[in-house]
Amino acid sequence: MEPAIRADDLRKSYGDVQALDGMTFEVERGEFFGLLGPNGAGKTTFINILVGLVRKDGGTAEVFGYDVEAEYQEARDRIGLAPQEFNVDRFFPIHEVLEHKAGYHGVPPDEAERRAEEALKTVGIWDKRDTRFDWLSGGMKRRFLLARALVTDPELLILDEPTAGVDVQLRRDLWRVIERLNAEGTTILLTTHYIEEAERLCDRVAITDDGSVVEVATPDDLRARGTDQVYLTLADAPETVPDIDVEGVIDARMEGDSLVVTAKGGGRVAPALLRELEYEGYEVLDLDIRRASLEEVFVGMTRVDEEAEKLEVPQ
Ligand SMILES: Nc1ncnc2c1ncn2[C@@H]1O[C@H](COP(=O)(O)OP(=O)(O)O)[C@@H](O)[C@H]1O
Ligand SMILES: [Mg+2]
Repeated sequence: MEPAIRADDLRKSYGDVQALDGMTFEVERGEFFGLLGPNGAGKTTFINILVGLVRKDGGTAEVFGYDVEAEYQEARDRIGLAPQEFNVDRFFPIHEVLEHKAGYHGVPPDEAERRAEEALKTVGIWDKRDTRFDWLSGGMKRRFLLARALVTDPELLILDEPTAGVDVQLRRDLWRVIERLNAEGTTILLTTHYIEEAERLCDRVAITDDGSVVEVATPDDLRARGTDQVYLTLADAPETVPDIDVEGVIDARMEGDSLVVTAKGGGRVAPALLRELEYEGYEVLDLDIRRASLEEVFVGMTRVDEEAEKLEVPQ
C-alpha cells in the first residue's frame, strides 16, 4: 500500500529564499506524524504544496499514491487542512461555509448538511452555526478551521500550528478531537512549536530545518539521545561524591543530600547505581529519574537557540 504522504527531494524557492531544499520523508497510513522545526523551516510551504496552493520547483509529492500536481483532485479530495493563517469566506453563516466546502469536494447537499452539523458539533460550536466567521472569537475561529478540515471526512488531516496562541482549555479540546480521529484511522500531519504537544500526540516526528529533514524518529528515540539526570537521595549524605563506576554515567555531583548523576539512558543506569551505592555502604532513600526533554534534543539539532526563541512572536 502507498503511504499517506511521500515526499522525495522536494524543492521550492521564493526568489533568493530556498524554502524547501530537498525535503524527503514518508508518513504511513494511520500515523500521527509531527513536523517540527523553527520558524521558516519550510513546514507551511511543504503543506501548501500538498494541497496545491504552491507549485513545487522539483521533486515528488504524493498523497495516498496520487501525485499532488498530476492527480491534483484525487490527492486534494483526501486531505482536510486546518491552515496556519485564517482564509475563510467571511460573509456567510459558518454552517453554509462548511456545506459549500463539502459540495466543492463532491458531497451531495443533504449529506453536506449532515456533515456540517457533525463537524460543528465535534469542535463544540454548533450553537454558533448561523454566525459569520468574522464574529467568532479567536478560539472559535481555530475550532471552525478544524471543523472545515473535517467536513469532507478526510483520510489525511493536516493541522498547521493548530494550537498556536490558543488557551490551555482549547488546546486540550483540540487534542482530544484529533486523538479520537487518529484512533479511528485518520492519518494526521501536525506542525507545532510546542514540543510537549509533539511528545504527547505523535507516533513519529520529523525535525526540519532550512528546508530539509534533519531526522525522523519517535519522540522516545529522540529523547533517548539526550542525557537524563538520576537523583539519588542518600541517608547521611557524604561530603564528597561517592566513587561510582557504572557504564553510561557522564557526570556525578552532590546537590544537598542528593547524588545527581548525569547519564545516557537514566532508566538503564539506575539499577546499577543502586547496587553500586549499596555495595559501598550508602543507604538510598529516594530515586528520581528526570528524563531529557524532546526540546533539549530538538534545540541541539536545529539552529534554534535561546535568543531566537525569545524573539519569536506567536502568530
Ligand atoms: N509566499 C512567499 N514569498 C516569499 N517567501 C516566502 C513565502 N512563503 C514562505 N516564504 C519563505 O520561505 C521560508 C519557509 O517559510 P514557511 O514554509 O512558512 O516556514 P514554516 O512554516 O516552517 O515557518 C521562509 O524563509 C519564508 O520567509
Ligand atoms: Mg508555518
